[in-house]
Amino acid sequence: MNLRKILVTSALPYANGAIHLGHLVEYIQTDLWVRFQKMQGHECWYVCADDTHGTPIMLRAQAEGITPEALIERVSVEHRRDFAGFHIAFDNYYSTHSEETRTQAEEIYARLKQAGLIEIRAIEQYYDPVKAMFLPDRFIKGECPKCGAADQYGDNCEACGAAYAPTDLKNPVSAVSGAKPELRQSEHYFFKLSDPHCQTFLREWTQGGPLQTEAANKMQEWLGELGDNRLTDWDISRDAPYFGFEIPDAPGKYFYVWLDAPVGYMGSFRNLCTRTGLDFDSFWNKDSQAELIHFIGKDILYFHALFWPAMLSHAGYRTPTQIFAHGFLTVDGAKMSKSRGTFITAESYLAQGLNPEWLRYYFAAKLNGSMEDIDLNMNDFTARVNSDLIGKYINIASRCTGFLTKYFEGRLADVQNEIPRAIEHGARIAPLFESRDTARALREIMALADQLNGDIATAAPWVLAKDDTQREALQAICSRALHGFWVLSILLSPVMPVLTSRIARTLFGLPRDFLWNDLATAPDTVLPYQHLMARIDPEQITALLTANRQNLPTPSQEPAMTETTSAISIDDFSKIDLRIARIAEAAHVEGADKLLKLTLDVGELGTKQVFAGIKSAYDPATLVGRLTVMVANLAPRKMKFGMSEGMVLAASASEVPGLFLLSPDTGATPGMKVK
Ligand code: MSP
Ligand code: ZN
Repeated sequence: MNLRKILVTSALPYANGAIHLGHLVEYIQTDLWVRFQKMQGHECWYVCADDTHGTPIMLRAQAEGITPEALIERVSVEHRRDFAGFHIAFDNYYSTHSEETRTQAEEIYARLKQAGLIEIRAIEQYYDPVKAMFLPDRFIKGECPKCGAADQYGDNCEACGAAYAPTDLKNPVSAVSGAKPELRQSEHYFFKLSDPHCQTFLREWTQGGPLQTEAANKMQEWLGELGDNRLTDWDISRDAPYFGFEIPDAPGKYFYVWLDAPVGYMGSFRNLCTRTGLDFDSFWNKDSQAELIHFIGKDILYFHALFWPAMLSHAGYRTPTQIFAHGFLTVDGAKMSKSRGTFITAESYLAQGLNPEWLRYYFAAKLNGSMEDIDLNMNDFTARVNSDLIGKYINIASRCTGFLTKYFEGRLADVQNEIPRAIEHGARIAPLFESRDTARALREIMALADQLNGDIATAAPWVLAKDDTQREALQAICSRALHGFWVLSILLSPVMPVLTSRIARTLFGLPRDFLWNDLATAPDTVLPYQHLMARIDPEQITALLTANRQNLPTPSQEPAMTETTSAISIDDFSKIDLRIARIAEAAHVEGADKLLKLTLDVGELGTKQVFAGIKSAYDPATLVGRLTVMVANLAPRKMKFGMSEGMVLAASASEVPGLFLLSPDTGATPGMKVK
């Protein structure tokens, strides 16, 4: 066989939050792909690290009253523990806050500079005078310049979907201190992606095979046609205070976290090389024959398919062989939600005593190598694991091993004639693992288990065992069953490494884990059966959801900004004139995607016209006549569609879909004050 040399990475998780089941989709997918390659005998290295730099990490550390170094150290311990709990077998797990990553980032930067691809330009940016820092877009809030919705982030509006610059926001405030930000000038360093060399390189590179078709098409959209020059230069610097690497010869300027994050792949690998004597250059040189494979989520495609290859190539390194993007995880059909208990951390899953290999199996059964989102349906999870793993797979060994140990001292009859078929199955299923279509691989494997279970049921060893004259037939069917179990265990090894390791060692007496090549041999003895795997008790799932629902967000899960909401006095509150309003009329607004036009009867205050961003949640006809709460003294604002003279109140949360208009209890009448 032609042995391959492969370096594999998963995206580097941010060092300010817990690993959750969404993350695990990626690490499980990568881990089982790597295990599959290793079982084939290929040289395959799997490295990862914590992504430790940037403003959110700096602010979180401040909020906790510790240094960023202390924060990332603590999170690193938690991340390593969680990954180990799910049997993610990194060859190295490191940190971007390391000398290896710093040196490498500086070198790449120096080479880009030498190639004339770094430019310094002054830009205007919001500055928080209280915190004395420039504000990233996500840390500025204000009113949407397009629809007027309040409390929107500096990059896009959640009410109308408009994208804009933070400087377009009306009445901006710093989400860090609540202060009114000021515009200030500062010099920034740019990577000149607009350079024709870069554009040409990326157009060729993205269409040359390293991306899935869907991803390549997306890149085509982003890049536009030749001559479009749609790519703008990439701002790679941030001003102090910033937690990151200071740019050489640029005091007070730091590399933007997304510059050194992918360099962390190299840093982690460099660290592995130093420890083990591996040759770094043979993996990263321009003429490297090794494969470089990045597993990522679809949300960070832009960085991996454009910025990263452009950096590597123009700094004289090889580029990735493949970028494998996966979709996002939903739980029971919706985005993971803390209020529903479906924002499940790796830690809590394990703490509930749930078996990590159940989840590995379920995710593998859902992933097919595409960028489609996958859903963890809790009922389906239970049913699938219980029926496939226990009902179809484990049952083969638990029903048949005893007869072999009881009547034949564990000796199997000759099953050599089964081997060619086993090899065939391996040859058919291997390409499915290779292409990450584990959904299909597991369907094929379970079809084999179904066939075998059918044969066992027909032969009925439990009936044969009662008849002394049927010993040969009994040994024959049980031997076929155990050989089948051997084959299934080899094929399932990448997915369930701990279970199958135990099977290899304690059932078949191998001194090691399975290799793919073991399909070419057959066992001749079995050892007494020991319990292998339990089924899922639906109560465990209920308990898991309850535990996560009760878990109030711990500081390490919530973004820093929610902690910094400043208190207001009762006087501040009483400035807001909240009133009961009756919706007298409600209508669609021509040309507005999100807005409804409401005519409100506010009793003594007369009628008011309000444009509300609630079209996605309400049919106007159903609103007419209902009571709600409005802010009656909001300064009237002129919108594209007319004047808006206030605001109706609705509840929403970013992790749950939907918008929920407030209603008063029965008895309230239009114009009443809410206080
Ligand atoms: N730090 C960056 C990656 C830098 S790589 C040089 C980052 N970190 S992350 O913690 O937000 O995400 C890590 C990986 O987990 C990403 O590939 C991301 O797509 C993936 N996922 C995070 N949440 C996810 C789901 N809900 N579902 C599936 N994958 C998810 O991005
Ligand atoms: Zn808007």
